Amino acid sequence: MDPNTSGLAMRLAEAGQSHLLQFWEELSPEEQGHFTRDLQKMDFQEINGFFEKAMEASSSSKQEKMDARMEPVPREVLGSVTRDRESLKDWEEAGLRCISQSKVAVLLLAGGQGTRLGVSYPKGMYDVGLPSHKTLFQIQAERILKLQQLAEQKHKIKCCVPWYIMTSGRTMASTKDYFSRNNNFGLDKNNIIFFQQGMLPAMDYKGKVILESKGKLSMAPDGNGGLYRALGNQGITDDMQRRGIEFIHVYCVDNILVKVADPSFIGFCVKKGADCGAKVVEKTNPTEAVGVVCKVDGLYQVVEYSEITLATAEKRSADGRLAFNSGNVANHFFSFSFLRDIVQKYEPELQHHVAQKKIPYVDTKGQLVKPDKPNGIKMEKFVFDIFQFAKTFVVYEVLREDEFNPLKNADSQDAKDTPTTARHALMSLHHRWVLNAGGHFIDENGRHVPAIPSLKDGTDLPIKCEISPLVSYGGEGLEELVRGREFHPTLMIDESGVHELVKNGV
Ligand code: UD1
Repeated sequence: MDPNTSGLAMRLAEAGQSHLLQFWEELSPEEQGHFTRDLQKMDFQEINGFFEKAMEASSSSKQEKMDARMEPVPREVLGSVTRDRESLKDWEEAGLRCISQSKVAVLLLAGGQGTRLGVSYPKGMYDVGLPSHKTLFQIQAERILKLQQLAEQKHKIKCCVPWYIMTSGRTMASTKDYFSRNNNFGLDKNNIIFFQQGMLPAMDYKGKVILESKGKLSMAPDGNGGLYRALGNQGITDDMQRRGIEFIHVYCVDNILVKVADPSFIGFCVKKGADCGAKVVEKTNPTEAVGVVCKVDGLYQVVEYSEITLATAEKRSADGRLAFNSGNVANHFFSFSFLRDIVQKYEPELQHHVAQKKIPYVDTKGQLVKPDKPNGIKMEKFVFDIFQFAKTFVVYEVLREDEFNPLKNADSQDAKDTPTTARHALMSLHHRWVLNAGGHFIDENGRHVPAIPSLKDGTDLPIKCEISPLVSYGGEGLEELVRGREFHPTLMIDESGVHELVKNGV
């Protein structure tokens, strides 16, 4: 329908977005139909409001002022796997009990576009080249399965850990299809709940929505904090309530070492009476791309790596460590009642952050331009922006080598957080599990391989060793399989037994 008679042109004019119709006459009737539907779905006044607030909050003077208001996390809210060893068992037992009572759900944030990794499919489907070639999704699914089993064995009742998976317009269909092609990796399909986050248009610096082509807006997911709106408008909190969920572990898709529904973390948070908690690792390099958990004006928050100034990132305390060293590993704990309050009351108060991007656009002559420097912004809410509303907030510090190795970038020389580093991190953890359970590795000459692998050509090559999550969730249960035995790498331990792939010529 003609945009002038339908009122669309008027609506766009009122919102200062009339330029979106500049190529209207050149579109086919079908393209006009699609474009009209897209435009009618959008609330441009709301989007303009988001833009103004986000730009205001991201102005550099505001950011510098925020630096002055930052304080590190106080010791009393901090639990640590190294400093609180005597409590670990208790926490783990408490967490496992909650899991056995089916009170725990996990929620995966998987709506990102994986731009840095450079793949066109969802990041969870990535195979980092492990001996088993399992993908991130499969590893996570199997950890959930194993944890259910451990809780059932210990408490002698059947339980389930529902898995909520947030996708976006760009990842939904392929993610669902991947799970169904793989028979949900052995999980009950009724306990895997997919839902979709919202999208927002990219804008130029003046607040004009960018056209990706003559009849198409440039759209991107609204950030992992889009979670809260999606939880409400897709009935997910209602589903959690129906299932009697009391605690939720939210995590990001890219960390190959993620302890999904980690019983110790959940138990720690529950025992501290927390409504909200964050898992962290010690940040040791000022320029590492992790957010830091801290307080700003007395309220907990994560200051993202893109938003902190270098001076603050480099600040050190008296003991020589970074002053802001609680590195966010994007693993969060929420009580159900806290999450429901956020969805029902506080979500509209969350502000969008601004990410400056190179956004392909059609210019006034209708030519597609791929800019080589940032020309506009994407607006995103962040999942951790709700920490400020917590009444009891806790922080749980874990060891990086045991729990954190995210996949962000494609392999290339000097790149960090790549498929290679992820694969090495997992194999090195599993190598340590075998050693701790009393197994050994021998090389091709029959010599014992030292516990710390040698440096060859300047690269730290780990022993090739992979243990299926279906055999061990966190290193437990391996003694009977490996104690006193010697293995040639590649060692694979899975449900069918212990395999030495090279020795057998595989
Ligand atoms: C994220 C954290 C950062 C942390 C780091 C650790 C946020 C905002 N930042 O940074 O503090 O130190 O991980 O690795 O959480 N996602 C969506 N929808 C979106 C955008 C992203 O679901 O619209 C998901 C992604 O699929 C991914 C996760 O959120 O699972 C993190 O996204 P990513 O862009 O990789 O975050 P980082 O910038 O690396």
